[in-house]
Amino acid sequence: MHQRPLAATGRSVSSIGLGTWQLGADWGDVSESQALDVLAASVEAGVTLFDTADVYGDGRSESLIGRFLAAHPGHGVTVATKMGRRVPQEPENYTPDHFRAWTDRSRENLGVDTLDLVQLHCPPSAVIDADETYDALDALVDSGAIAAYGVSVETCAQALSAIARPGVSNVQIIFNPFRLKPLDEVLPAAEAAGVAIFARVPLASGLLSGRYTASTSFAANDHRTFNRHGEAFDRGETFSGVDFATGLVAAEELSAALPDGVSLPAASLAWIASCPGVTSVIPGARTTAQARSNAEAGSIDPAVLETFAAAVVDVYDRRLREDIHPQW
Ligand SMILES: NC(=O)c1ccc[n+]([C@@H]2O[C@H](COP(=O)([O-])OP(=O)(O)OC[C@H]3O[C@@H](n4cnc5c(N)ncnc54)[C@H](OP(=O)(O)O)[C@@H]3O)[C@@H](O)[C@H]2O)c1
Repeated sequence: MHQRPLAATGRSVSSIGLGTWQLGADWGDVSESQALDVLAASVEAGVTLFDTADVYGDGRSESLIGRFLAAHPGHGVTVATKMGRRVPQEPENYTPDHFRAWTDRSRENLGVDTLDLVQLHCPPSAVIDADETYDALDALVDSGAIAAYGVSVETCAQALSAIARPGVSNVQIIFNPFRLKPLDEVLPAAEAAGVAIFARVPLASGLLSGRYTASTSFAANDHRTFNRHGEAFDRGETFSGVDFATGLVAAEELSAALPDGVSLPAASLAWIASCPGVTSVIPGARTTAQARSNAEAGSIDPAVLETFAAAVVDVYDRRLREDIHPQW
């Protein structure tokens, strides 16, 4: 597993990390023991970055990570958490007092004095653009409550605004074969500024697993049932905002571009990780088998990735660009 420098933090993180929304809620039921096994399988496979948030299961994901890491001293894992979605996403809620209270709760959940990295959790653009936001985040760093901060964003415009801020260590954005717009400006800008990019939703919520069909259904408490049209949060967080039927066809075409023995999820993760400007790809996993195979995805032959990259652009241009590119 490649380890890459995490901006100016002095830390390194694995090029393939682990997203842990699944270990909190919103993806059907994942038991505590299943969640702890996913964390263990990832670390055994060389993963050194866990992405979580204070709202995933209202702290369940953070608490499980805290328990797991306490039982594994010397683990070498960097935990990137998020804050800002325990209240309505209105600019007046992003205050220094709230930042302090939210980070104190995450420190307790994770069992640490200092949080490694805290990302604002998709706040409104007005918050991303405001000097006061970064003043409050700098104060948290100065107080020792957090070691570094970043911003998770919905749109490329928001990403560019955050990248321009000197204190920002990372920007988290949806980037996958169904979401190519970050290639245009965001990845080059991040690379030039020395800001790390975490590529989230890299498998388009599982559409890029290549194993769903028109008759696949999901549990009632899975966002792939309840947020398909943005009923609970931004529609782009579910299947990357791609219409399910279109995504099935696009995934089939991408699979057809791969040689036998190379899976679509592995190729997708390896291709994302290979794009200049990306520091880490953070696939979510619900099972140890998924966690292991995702962590091993980096070892794909570069010649296969080159062919795959051409197919990614072709499929995106024909099936997705017109709908997806203007939205995020
Ligand atoms: N606003 C934000 O900041 C934000 C929003 C979304 C996500 N995130 C972060 O990004 C992480 C990743 O995004 P995501 O979890 O939403 O989507 P994702 O990584 O694109 O998709 C995860 C799903 O893909 C399937 N999968 C994973 N590995 C697989 C494999 N090896 N083979 C086949 N299928 C596989 C699983 O589906 P099944 O469940 O069907 O098995 C899994 O639940 C999250 O966990 C979270 O940490 C942040």
